[in-house]
Amino acid sequence: MAVLKITEYPAKVLGEVGEPVVKFDEELRRLCDDMFETMYDDGGVGLAAPQVGLSLRLFVMDCEGLKLVAANPEVFNLEGEQPGEEGCLSVGKIHSPLKRAARATLRAQDSEGNWYEREATGLAARCFQHETDHCDGILFINRLSPLKRNMVVKRFQKLKKWE
Ligand code: NI
Repeated sequence: MAVLKITEYPAKVLGEVGEPVVKFDEELRRLCDDMFETMYDDGGVGLAAPQVGLSLRLFVMDCEGLKLVAANPEVFNLEGEQPGEEGCLSVGKIHSPLKRAARATLRAQDSEGNWYEREATGLAARCFQHETDHCDGILFINRLSPLKRNMVVKRFQKLKKWE
């Protein structure tokens, strides 16, 4: 296993709609292992393939006891609303308040290609929405008001200068 380099905003790949995963082979499973290791190394609860520079519809997550690989993910049955803070490993983990649906169902394929569905609430439901957005080329900052987005981007740019 290996820790991969995290692709950061404003890399082009983060804004691209990912290609569907079609091959469920050893290479994909190795990639998922590496993505888990990268996510744990950086203290995240979810990580999508575009965040390691791959334009693929794939994410891994380990959040509130729910550990999964999601290839070709879709979220549906979005219900209710939850307040809360959101951040992203590709945007320096800078947080901003962002409302998301309180409940969501994820439909995706595991690393063997088997389809499954999982329902979640709270942080795990937020994670489904955030990571599936990554597969569509959408960052959480794209869902903020222009003012809040600017604040996050400016703080991120400052952080990068200090590194
Ligand atoms: Ni993210």
